[in-house]
Amino acid sequence: MVKICCIGAGYVGGPTMAVIALKCPELEVVVVDICASRIDAWNRDKLPIYEPGLDDVVKACRGRNLFFSTDIEKHVADAEILFLSVNTPTKTSGLGAGKAADLTFWEKAARMIADVSNSDKIVVEKSTVPVKTAEAIEKILNHNNNGVKYQVLSNPEFLSEGTAIEDLLYPERVLIGGRETPEGQKAVQTLKDIYARWVPDDLIITTNLWSAELSKLASNAFQAQRVSSINAMSALCEATGASVSEVAYAIGMDSRIGPKFLNSSVGFGGSCFQKDILNLVYICECNGLPEVANYWKQVIKINDYQKRRFLNRVISSMFNTVSGKKIAILGFAFKKDTADTRESASIFVSQGLLREKANISIYDPKVTEDQIQYDLATNKLDWDNQVPQQPMSPTARNQVTVMWDPYEATKGAHGVCILTEWDEFKDLDYKKIYDGMQKPAFMFDGRNMVDPVKLREIGFIVYSIGRPLDPWLLDMPAVA
Ligand code: UDX
Ligand code: UDX
Ligand code: ADP
Repeated sequence: MVKICCIGAGYVGGPTMAVIALKCPELEVVVVDICASRIDAWNRDKLPIYEPGLDDVVKACRGRNLFFSTDIEKHVADAEILFLSVNTPTKTSGLGAGKAADLTFWEKAARMIADVSNSDKIVVEKSTVPVKTAEAIEKILNHNNNGVKYQVLSNPEFLSEGTAIEDLLYPERVLIGGRETPEGQKAVQTLKDIYARWVPDDLIITTNLWSAELSKLASNAFQAQRVSSINAMSALCEATGASVSEVAYAIGMDSRIGPKFLNSSVGFGGSCFQKDILNLVYICECNGLPEVANYWKQVIKINDYQKRRFLNRVISSMFNTVSGKKIAILGFAFKKDTADTRESASIFVSQGLLREKANISIYDPKVTEDQIQYDLATNKLDWDNQVPQQPMSPTARNQVTVMWDPYEATKGAHGVCILTEWDEFKDLDYKKIYDGMQKPAFMFDGRNMVDPVKLREIGFIVYSIGRPLDPWLLDMPAVA
């Protein structure tokens, strides 16, 4: 039985390996991680990540040809193919702080592979990494000079959270980059044969290593750019009385633009977009391309502007003060169908409201209270100025309540902010919510989830991203 080992049991490693195990019963797939509690959770009924369909895939293979273990060195030594799926966060200190990828985990994993291996291996980069990381990995792997031969491949993962299983089962493409030597091409073919078990041949693209690495960064940068483009339009729509959803629909019908990924929002989040663009920016700067770096930086600047614009709108509409007022936050995850909160716009908006001394009451169907409190108490590095963002006061914890019911969260509130596009928010009883709130009752829809006309009929003062403004809001201009 060919043995595969994946280092890193996170959002990428766990689901990807589960699907490979499902589709290739003749392979033994072991996922290892230094985090014992995470591995423990992968071996229990309640998995460490929420992803629709994941439970069924894991249940079908776990114990058959899918295993989760902390015995890293043993499984790495035994495997023929190693996937590297460790985290690559943005550096928080030192050279390139706030922008460059922190490859500490990566390097440690590569050194460990070099130390424990005594048979030839294919090493596959799965996590997003800066271009030319494969070269660095090759150097680390070969430093031992013990006769073991490695082929490094880049096989970036394009899954989105919330649809990971669907994306893995029916990928739009699989990208494999390798060295253009006979040994490199043989390794590419070995990996291709695995995917070919369920992915049509014409969807498996092979390139050189650097194209594969850069394609992943470019893909995320283009997607984020679309969101920032429509979000930039949303500000102009509000200023002119146009409606951003109508504009998005109209431009999306042009096949050169296409209809997907044009939902204006309170700002994109997630572990990839900002991190990968910053990475791209840093690489451009290192390569003497400041114009290109500045072009991509603008995508994040617009995203920051969109989050700030939303927050300021909330405060300015409510007579420029939210001090002591209860504000309900509906949605804390960075998007629907995930419990992941990394870079969620909700964190930014909530922290801003706390600084203004509001009391916030948060409802999210999947995110735990511990996670919410942790996110709100964590101060991040400002990517542009490389200084910590304004710290939250230690007493702010008392201003936060977490509810497991949207009606409880909104009861007695002055305003409601919809920040994640959970489907259930479309069908809430907004009349009931309105009746339970202070008056005037404000609704700030950061995801264009609810028909503003219906909300106004109920009595709400409504702010919907990119839609014509209520007369009330026109009288209360917001600074951005
Ligand atoms: C454009 C729009 O396509 C059209 O819908 C609008 O009504 C008028 O403006 P046009 O300027 O005639 O039409 O040509 P277009 O094919 O869009 O090309 C514009 C420029 O972009 C050309 O110089 C073209 O060479 C360049 N281009 C286009 C690229 O460099 N790369 C591309 O992938 C596409
Ligand atoms: C993204 C890429 O889609 C995926 O291919 C890559 O492998 C990892 O990064 P993910 O971050 O999981 O996946 O989610 P995605 O669906 O891309 O959404 C990212 C953010 O953009 C979310 O906050 C989402 O709400 C926001 N978004 C997306 C919008 O605001 N509007 C849109 O139209 C689409
Ligand atoms: P991603 O979203 O890219 O999957 P995650 O942070 O969810 O990232 O997962 C990365 C995982 O990699 C974490 O569970 C972390 O504990 C694990 N990890 C990091 N370094 C190592 C290492 N040297 N050996 C094994 N696992 C590691």
